[in-house]
Amino acid sequence: MPSADNVMDKLVSLAKRRGFVFQSSEIYGGLGSVWDYGPLGVELKKNVKERWWRSMVHERDDIEGLDAAILMHPKVWEASGHIAGFTDPLVDCKQCKNRFRADDPRIKGTPGQPDAQCPVCGMKGTLTAPRLFNLMFKTFMGPVEEDAAVIYLRPETAQGIYINYLNVLQSSRQKIPFGIAQIGKAFRNEITPGNFTFRTREFEQMEMQFFVKPAADQEWFEFWKAQRMEWVQGLGLHVEKLRFHQHAKDELAHYAKDAYDIQYEFPFGWQEFEGIHNRTDFDLSRHQQHSGKKLEYVDTATNERFVPYIIETSAGADRTTLVVMVDAYHEEEVAGEKRVVMRFHPALAPIKAAVFPLVNKDGMPELARRIYDDLRRHLNAFYDDGGSIGRRYRRQDEAGTPFGITIDGQSTQDQTVTVRDRDTLLQDRVAADRLVAHLTEKLKG
Ligand code: GAP
Repeated sequence: MPSADNVMDKLVSLAKRRGFVFQSSEIYGGLGSVWDYGPLGVELKKNVKERWWRSMVHERDDIEGLDAAILMHPKVWEASGHIAGFTDPLVDCKQCKNRFRADDPRIKGTPGQPDAQCPVCGMKGTLTAPRLFNLMFKTFMGPVEEDAAVIYLRPETAQGIYINYLNVLQSSRQKIPFGIAQIGKAFRNEITPGNFTFRTREFEQMEMQFFVKPAADQEWFEFWKAQRMEWVQGLGLHVEKLRFHQHAKDELAHYAKDAYDIQYEFPFGWQEFEGIHNRTDFDLSRHQQHSGKKLEYVDTATNERFVPYIIETSAGADRTTLVVMVDAYHEEEVAGEKRVVMRFHPALAPIKAAVFPLVNKDGMPELARRIYDDLRRHLNAFYDDGGSIGRRYRRQDEAGTPFGITIDGQSTQDQTVTVRDRDTLLQDRVAADRLVAHLTEKLKG
């Protein structure tokens, strides 16, 4: 059984080699826990986000889209409880200056007491008592760097939805129950980031807030729990590596009445990548208090007035993309040679088809170019005429490209091509003028 580090190391190395993910600011030595998506990574993550948007916004008539700004009035974070409550208890080592979460399992003894031992320098009695550290990034708005000008980079996209709840309600003419969906960046000054893109300081969230009658909260909570698991399974993941985890009382966020994580079994253990939360009327009530603006809903049929309850589905776009990558990574032996293949669901694969002239002569490159030009008007295709056909297949296996189209000697005679299936390695011969229809059919889903 390969070790967790080993599997993750291999994935990080493939991600760099093939252009999925690069360390941010690498030429300057890197920036801690910030990552950039390369040509294949940006396509993969975009496919994940588009699939989410389609299922949440386009395929439903009770959810509207939104793209709120990252910067918001600082009072948003007072109202939301993030200024007071979005904290981790941390301890510092006075000797080596390292900082740790107070519950870091590597710490022996009680921080603040003489018996506590620093996990890095090994000194005893140098760890401070825990202090609360806010995870929000601060910056200044305008030319003056003073307390009154402090604003925050949002640590979750959800608040941009709550403060626009009335705008969306009134402009879309939706009625409760209805939802607002948003994809956008969020920032957290995480103290123990790591495991590649699993926990980073800048990341993207795909969040949907569903506004319901208070008494209907449980019913909608169950509904969205089931829907989200179904969507996640539709990414083609190994179902035995997916499970729910219900938050115990001490795990619940300050706003939640009930919460379930969807977890994946990563090489480093079961971890959350999406959460379904019953946020009650906490957020809207707090914004109502802090802004002085009424955020009640009036049911015109019954004349009832209430502050809606909110069922939230909150997924990390980066973490979901990481799940997709980890789940797709596969090593096998083919004809005595090791093959590394990313078995992405075809609908998520960054490149759908790669076109190869078998050799660069005898009319094959010209025909291959024509086929490639036609194909890329319909799907993301790639042309490769460099190196042996075996090497070209292997590169596309690592990119997770589901179909390899080879133009060989026969192609120039009868206008057919071979279509190699990434997973089964079987080859079909298909008429060139039927290729688009053939691939489109196979890429459905
Ligand atoms: N609005 C609710 C909320 O933000 P959360 O459980 O803190 O809830 C939701 O975050 C999702 O956002 C997580 O399941 C994860 O996928 C993603 N996420 C949170 N912090 C992250 C981080 N530091 N790096 C990458 N993804 C993160």
